[in-house]
Amino acid sequence: MEAIKRTADQEMKIPVSEPERQYYFIERAKVDLERLKKEAGRPLTFCVTTFGCQMNARDSEKLVGILEKIGYIEETDEEKADFVIYNTCTVRENANQRVYGRLGQLGRIKKKNPHMMIALCGCMMQEPEVVEKLKKSYGFIDLIFGTHNIYKFAELLATRMESGRMVIDIWKDTDKIVEDLPSERKYSFKSGVNIMFGCNNFCSYCIVPYVRGRERSRDPRAIIREIERLVADGVVEVMLLGQNVNSYGKTLDSPMTFAQLLREIEKIDGLRRIRFMTSHPKDLSDELIQVMGESEKICKHLHLPVQSGSSRILEKMNRRYTKEHYLELVEKIRAAVPDISLTTDIIVGFPGETEEDFQETLDVVRKVRYDSAFTFIYSKRTGTPAAVMGNQVPEEIVKDRFNRLLSEVQQISAEMCAVHEGTVQTALVESVNEHDNKLVTGRLSNNLLVHFPGDASMIGQFIDVRLRECRGFYYIGEQV
Ligand code: 5AD
Ligand code: SF4
Repeated sequence: MEAIKRTADQEMKIPVSEPERQYYFIERAKVDLERLKKEAGRPLTFCVTTFGCQMNARDSEKLVGILEKIGYIEETDEEKADFVIYNTCTVRENANQRVYGRLGQLGRIKKKNPHMMIALCGCMMQEPEVVEKLKKSYGFIDLIFGTHNIYKFAELLATRMESGRMVIDIWKDTDKIVEDLPSERKYSFKSGVNIMFGCNNFCSYCIVPYVRGRERSRDPRAIIREIERLVADGVVEVMLLGQNVNSYGKTLDSPMTFAQLLREIEKIDGLRRIRFMTSHPKDLSDELIQVMGESEKICKHLHLPVQSGSSRILEKMNRRYTKEHYLELVEKIRAAVPDISLTTDIIVGFPGETEEDFQETLDVVRKVRYDSAFTFIYSKRTGTPAAVMGNQVPEEIVKDRFNRLLSEVQQISAEMCAVHEGTVQTALVESVNEHDNKLVTGRLSNNLLVHFPGDASMIGQFIDVRLRECRGFYYIGEQV
């Protein structure tokens, strides 16, 4: 691709403050793209592929918003797109391996398409070894940036288009939150809303505090304003996003609690459902439990990662709660919100985990009876304290524990799901069923999915459904 030169006159006009600066670069990238489209003799397309969590999914919506403003057209087939962006995750090593595997394939496709560009961003890019490896072995990549400067995407893209060279921009950390940039929602009726960024917990196995930086809460007024705008635009359900939403507000100039924020959001007219993710048990307050019990809008679902049932391992994980404390919390929540669905994350094979420790985890699973649980094999992340701990557990033992845990979790969640059979519940219809277009898929307040006869006109609507038949972890139902 030919380099495009910036004139001195152009350089003078660049705003210094955000988000104005990015809006300026969106306009400039538009001009750059027009030139490239003329060269290609056709419209140019993009495809954003997201790895990892909801936080990344939300970031990707921001990337898509900017790309569409610039004039790119979305293409869902990655192999056909002219601009491929990977928004990466690095929470476990296998997430990284998947990216390298797919990059190899992309490199071959790029050889055949002279207009193609490839960008990588997200958590994996915050690891210096990763960027070194990409520079050395994947020289065909056009643009690399990290989690802290994602708001500068338009500027970085314009720089790439105008310089014709690989652009790499990674920041170690930031205290900045840039508001009011474009974003394109995947669903018209629901949206993720960032309430905080980063994480200060430093669980000893976890790389997130190193790649997402220090905890920063958004100003509550900016959050409310964003949700009010979303609601005016047709959104009825929001998912409040943060690595540790229970510690929201602690770092604000005038501190407020997460429970107080929820009370404010509850007041927004037209908003029907509120979800949030992720809660840390150590910061889950009585005030929050009370708000959940009283709220009309907060969904009957709490994701409360336990990670391990052994107090000894929890201490080594730096989780700052014990098995007993966790079980007490669960009792309190169930007392305040009797029909709540509880889900969790569990890691097996943390360094030093014995069979007795593992039995404690199974014991928690049996006592809490989770509606569903994400189970992970411990993955060693360079730079975290756990990576250098002794007694790493041999692979065969971890796999055996993982399988035993999985069968326990699956058995219980099927039983938990079945208790709702025959009841009538309200579903928010999300899509036409992928496998059978005479069915639609709706989500219940407790986060379970129900498939029932319907059509695309129901998408975004609340519909009362009888849950006829439980199929393990979802329902087949009918409108009542
Ligand atoms: N190995 C395995 N699982 C991990 N998680 C975080 N770090 C690791 C790791 N090093 C899991 C935790 C967390 C979820 C998002 O990923 O269970 O809650
Ligand atoms: Fe993955 Fe964690 Fe980054 Fe989310 S915050 S994308 S889970 S590394």
